[in-house]
Amino acid sequence: MLILGIESSCDETAAAIVEDGVRIRASVVSSQVSTHAIYGGVVPELASRMHIEAIDPVLDQALAQAGVSLDDIDGIAATRGPGLIGALLVGFSYAKALAWARNLPLAGVNHLEAHICSLQLLDHSPGFPFIALVVSGGHTNIYHVNGPGVCNLMGQTRDDAAGEAFDKVAKMMGLSYPGGPAIEALAKKGDPEQIKFPRSMLKKGNFDFSFSGIKSAVARHLHETPDINETQSAHVAAGFQMAVIDVLSAKLIAAAQDKHCTDIGIAGGVSANQTFVDILSKRAERHKINVFSPPLSLCGDNAAMIAARGWEMIRNNQVCGLADDVYSRVRFTGT
Ligand code: KG4
Ligand code: ZN
Repeated sequence: MLILGIESSCDETAAAIVEDGVRIRASVVSSQVSTHAIYGGVVPELASRMHIEAIDPVLDQALAQAGVSLDDIDGIAATRGPGLIGALLVGFSYAKALAWARNLPLAGVNHLEAHICSLQLLDHSPGFPFIALVVSGGHTNIYHVNGPGVCNLMGQTRDDAAGEAFDKVAKMMGLSYPGGPAIEALAKKGDPEQIKFPRSMLKKGNFDFSFSGIKSAVARHLHETPDINETQSAHVAAGFQMAVIDVLSAKLIAAAQDKHCTDIGIAGGVSANQTFVDILSKRAERHKINVFSPPLSLCGDNAAMIAARGWEMIRNNQVCGLADDVYSRVRFTGT
């Protein structure tokens, strides 16, 4: 079964063709990052307009890459939410029109469930049940995943998402947008032990997060160090990054122990942070827990994960009609 996936929830326009939910035949991502970088963050109206311009060529490229035509497609999956309403509308309306014109089933995919599904596209995937962390610019959610699309939320951030904290700290330090890769690169030149930033909400049995305290502590430190040099900046980046990694790792391992899971999967933009993956893997190994993380191409927003989730939904007859609309905030379809 060949599923065409379409993603347009934020600042990436993507199309992918996935066979039987696991084999990526094509995956094309057109990123708007360089446009939004000028403004230091995503400008929603600009994002919508750029999706409109990109969606046709991105689909054509995906079909060419897979060596198929629309006649070969068996179903369509598009991101329905959460995300920026205007941006979502472009991809979802496009998918609706295609599905209607070609008489194909349409799955309206939850973007967060799709990030978890990116783990299914790996050669070695976590086995059910497992603990999943979706960690991006908009979310920091821990789930107990009991089966395809059966995701029980165990905890989430009460304020900033981890990626958002990376972006805001980078901005304070005069680094480029998005902040995650910039902080990770600078942190490599610093010592994470030099400056100890707070680790929040580490109380046992609580799987929620708070990152605004770390962010404020960095702001205070920068304020108290007006003529900061490059080495000191690198120590700040390393100290901040380690504080985030400590909290994420501690909560994930505690969640796995709480639910007697031996596998942890991480997904979303921040899972591209190799320092995080390495440290989490080492710490988890001490507890005989395996860590799974997607390759860089599947960490950030992409349409292969949308097609993978859509395949499961279409097989279970969880399909959308033309009257169904997008949604901006979290809503789960799988449980
Ligand atoms: O999943 P994603 O592409 O988009 C959504 O937010 O849905 O995630 C983007 C986020 C940004 O906040 C970015 O700074 C963060 O992922 N990110 C990273 C790294 N690469 C991207 N954070 C830490 N380290 C990285 N290497
Ligand atoms: Zn995302």
